[in-house]
Amino acid sequence: MTTSPPFLLASDNASGVHPAVLRRLQAVNAAHAPGYGSDEHTRQAEQAFQAHFGDDASIFMVATGTACNVLALQAVTQSIDAVFCSDIAHLFVDECSAPEHAIGCKLIGLPALEGKVTPDALERALAFQQDPYHRNRAKVLSLSQGTEYGTLYSLDELRALTRLAHDRGLKVHLDGARLANAAAALGAPLRALTRDAGIDVVSFGGTKNGLMMAEAVIVFDAELAGRMPALRKQGMQLASKHRFLAAQYLAYFEDDLWLHNARHANRMAARLAARLAAIPGMELSAPTQINMVFARVPPDWVAPLQRLSRCNLWLPDTSELRFVTSFDTTEASIDAFADAAGALAA
Ligand SMILES: Cc1ncc(COP(=O)(O)O)c(C=O)c1O
Repeated sequence: MTTSPPFLLASDNASGVHPAVLRRLQAVNAAHAPGYGSDEHTRQAEQAFQAHFGDDASIFMVATGTACNVLALQAVTQSIDAVFCSDIAHLFVDECSAPEHAIGCKLIGLPALEGKVTPDALERALAFQQDPYHRNRAKVLSLSQGTEYGTLYSLDELRALTRLAHDRGLKVHLDGARLANAAAALGAPLRALTRDAGIDVVSFGGTKNGLMMAEAVIVFDAELAGRMPALRKQGMQLASKHRFLAAQYLAYFEDDLWLHNARHANRMAARLAARLAAIPGMELSAPTQINMVFARVPPDWVAPLQRLSRCNLWLPDTSELRFVTSFDTTEASIDAFADAAGALAA
């Protein structure tokens, strides 16, 4: 019997780097090149982004998702501003208050419904914020697509939220650490899910979908983009050997690697969800829409399941586990894990 490798379902950043990305890194390593993004590889990578997001989109590559979120928010906020996001948003709970620290802005967590911000929750928060003498100025709505709970905003939901936000004078930021998975699941172009849906600034992922360490802030407004080069340097995120960030994205966009990787990871999650749902005692706790599966299990299954795959204990109180699939997850490893999980019920 195949056994499931440890860390199989721990996170999409537990997986390695796609071989095509490694080959591209090797290729740009061959010669010397100018630093700080003034090289030819960076220019080509920016063009590859622009083919998806529009010729006038401005691209700022960085090494981590947290830096990406902070810089993206910094493009549209000052220290007096409030940023609304879901109360399970990565930037709200898992970035050690980096946005607050770097910008001085206030993050306001809205009650998430299956991981998503609702127009109703945003309306209520905006009403509460109406006191210019005591409260931060309402400035940004930040959404995650896919969400941290593995769910998706439909295009209609997204448009309704961006319309409401814009009507109230807010800018909209999208944390797209898993935007590729969302695009694959919704069958929508990247541009339709961002710019055309009313998003002003995007944190575009890569690391969770086969890159080594590359994320990118994408800004659609030329005036906002003008601030970004200095903000990135001041934020200590301008890589001197920038071509190694660019090379990752060159591989990512070539032959739609980003889409193939995301589709595969999503398919593996769907397979896992179907297998786990059939195990008596396991209960899927969120719809499986991208590459994440959430399930409540009997409390005494948590330790053995974590030993099998190092899956994340999402909510200890209800013994809810999170399983994440990757571009290189195999059907055999999913089946082996599901078989072992099923044995716990037997
Ligand atoms: C939705 C989301 N945004 C941002 C990040 C931040 O990425 P990093 O860990 O590279 O800072 C993560 C990482 O898990 C994430 O899940």
